[in-house]
Amino acid sequence: MSGVRKKRVAVLISGRGSNMAALIDAAKTADFPAEIALVLSNKADAGGLAIAAANGIKTVVIDHKPFGRDRAAFDAAMQAVLVAEGIEIVCLAGFMRIMSEEFVNGWFGRMINIHPALLPLFKGLDTHARALEAGVKLHGCSTHFVTPGMDEGPIIAQAAVPVLDDDTPETLGARVLAEEHRLYPETLRLLASGALVISGNRVLRS
Ligand code: GRF
Repeated sequence: MSGVRKKRVAVLISGRGSNMAALIDAAKTADFPAEIALVLSNKADAGGLAIAAANGIKTVVIDHKPFGRDRAAFDAAMQAVLVAEGIEIVCLAGFMRIMSEEFVNGWFGRMINIHPALLPLFKGLDTHARALEAGVKLHGCSTHFVTPGMDEGPIIAQAAVPVLDDDTPETLGARVLAEEHRLYPETLRLLASGALVISGNRVLRS
């Protein structure tokens, strides 16, 4: 990658930030095409903030509560920070906020998410318990471009794990999470290096 400028990435979190940490670690590699320039949280007590700070990454907290129901105003506050920091790609990593259509559409093709299920199955929360309840034999995780519909955007990559007879939501979730930590950095690498093309609902490799 020598001579090629790394893309400036913001990771948006609300919690422990293990996927954020995986992105930070991957981005330390010299030939990784992106740098994690900012970690933004809507919660001051998000565990991931300390990890980011310990890695020398700028952190910003924008508490959503003072904004009440005014999603647009909260999103505008986020947008101002993202623009000020020259952010080119946004990675959602356990960011537990529904965002306004205008904000999401403005980042189309440059904002990605990781979801702990094989989309389009099990959108939303409690995916591991729901996978067990449904009796599926394969479960996993998906990375996708973000669109206004929750967990609905074009799928970039997926990883599957077996569902074992003695699994609990916790054991299954841990198996999926290990795959998330591999899949998300790989997805960011592809996006930041310009290797992805969106074609309708499909994502192709250029
Ligand atoms: C992960 O399971 C991710 O797939 C989902 O939220 C969880 C975040 O976990 N979107 P972490 O904060 O990255 O540890």
